[in-house]
Amino acid sequence: MKASHVAAVVIGGLTIAALAWLFTSREQAPGAALAHQVNVTVPPLSERAAAGALVFERACTACHGANAAGGPGGPPLVHKIYEPSHHADGAFVLAVRNGVRQHHWGFGSMPPVADVSPAEIASIISYVRTLQRANGIR
Ligand code: HEC
Repeated sequence: MKASHVAAVVIGGLTIAALAWLFTSREQAPGAALAHQVNVTVPPLSERAAAGALVFERACTACHGANAAGGPGGPPLVHKIYEPSHHADGAFVLAVRNGVRQHHWGFGSMPPVADVSPAEIASIISYVRTLQRANGIR
């Protein structure tokens, strides 16, 4: 083997090792906070908002995290981006019905969520707006 080949093999090996290290060192320990997660104070909930919390846990928490604080597959909804003047209630209806093309974050697109009724979406909106107000987003 020529010296240049040996060098190429060594550099290749080092590159793979460095990439492997980068990849594994970025893995989250279970339960560790994610970088985009926010602290959410949960205030007392109205009956409607409490109903929304249950639907949210069923249909949205897997991506948006508990209390909409951000999760492994989606952004926090308790966030300035989603204040009512920037994302009105209609944006929630459309997001659930049609999904959302990736545009604000790097999680990929949100697929439509099929098993949530219009009344349930309304209760989710009440829940998320309650959380937002209690955390200074209005
Ligand atoms: C499979 C993961 C996933 C699930 C499940 C999910 N979302 Fe999302 N959602 C996302 C991602 C990712 C984005 C951000 C897209 C972007 O802006 O880059 C998003 C964005 C949104 C937005 C912002 C819409 C806009 O116009 O920018 C709303 C509102 C929303 N989600 C509500 C919900 C609700 C309510 C549920 C449950 C019924 C839900 N999502 C379930 C991944 C998910």
